[in-house]
Amino acid sequence: MKATANAGSNIAFVKYWGVGKGRSNRRVPLNPSVSMTLDVARTTTTVAFLPGLKEDVCTINNGPAPPDALERVRRVLDRVRRIAGLKAFARTVSVNHFPTSAGIASSASGFAALALAAARAAGLTGNLKGLVPLTILGSGSACRSLYGGYVLWSPPAGGQASSRVRQLEDEDHWQLVDLVAILSREQKTVPSEQGHLLARTSPLLEGRLASLGRILTKVKKAVRERNLQALGEWLEADALCMHAVMMTSQPALLYWEPATLAVIKAVRDLRERRGLPCYFTIDAGPNVHVITLPEQANAVARALKKVAGVQEVLRCPTGRGAYLQEEALF
Ligand code: DP6
Repeated sequence: MKATANAGSNIAFVKYWGVGKGRSNRRVPLNPSVSMTLDVARTTTTVAFLPGLKEDVCTINNGPAPPDALERVRRVLDRVRRIAGLKAFARTVSVNHFPTSAGIASSASGFAALALAAARAAGLTGNLKGLVPLTILGSGSACRSLYGGYVLWSPPAGGQASSRVRQLEDEDHWQLVDLVAILSREQKTVPSEQGHLLARTSPLLEGRLASLGRILTKVKKAVRERNLQALGEWLEADALCMHAVMMTSQPALLYWEPATLAVIKAVRDLRERRGLPCYFTIDAGPNVHVITLPEQANAVARALKKVAGVQEVLRCPTGRGAYLQEEALF
């Protein structure tokens, strides 16, 4: 009754921001999103259901899981137990191969790996599609990390109970690089789970939702045609639009630091003055993700490291989806 899974984080080109209530009061995303699954920024998780345990126990990066993370882990495990008809509690050990909760979504890789490991440890078989609702119980964006390459997550269509996730293109279709300019390793002040609930308080949300259909079409086309210039234009536009919604929520969410803006300006400068194809996007944190081509990644990374406030640049190529591995963490 033990299984180990590995999953990568993902970076959204069209961002998921805001949740509503769907059928049976389930939390559902307000908008469709598109992401690229990442290599390097990955999580390995081992789960074992052990009859002797008195409660679920979980360690993350060799320490006890913080209470909010443990609560989310239990939500996923409870659902797995219900489906599998199991009573035993589980031991979960998880290791992130990158900074946790610093604007680079460790929740995405963490809950994709947890859902796969827990389902298999409980003896559940079936395809990745069946894991989508499990991942979303832990973290919305985690459902995109089940698949490799480029992934679309859509809210449930009329009458459907759950949202849909599908791979647009696999990782071999187009190799891009996400250079993560790490400005801070601090935990986020407002976790995205809370931020999603505030989206509706922004007067700009309606405008964003109304314009998303067009952006989605452009982004899907750019990925299909491997057109970085077109992709870059739209992914920057959507990142700024999502942060405009965050900044105009009540209370306002301001995830940026001064160095965030410095990196944005450096990226524009690299494009305009040095002709380097690179584009920025930002999640719910201060770090800036810079999307570029493998051939230009070294030059772009060197320039980013020189920007005041950048502590480190993490290089994450396009990665594969979640998979099971033999080697366990305990
Ligand atoms: C800004 O998936 O981390 O990164 O569902 O509450 O865990 P929870 O939120 P999460 O939100 C990610 C938001 C984002 C944009 C994105 O990845 O699409």
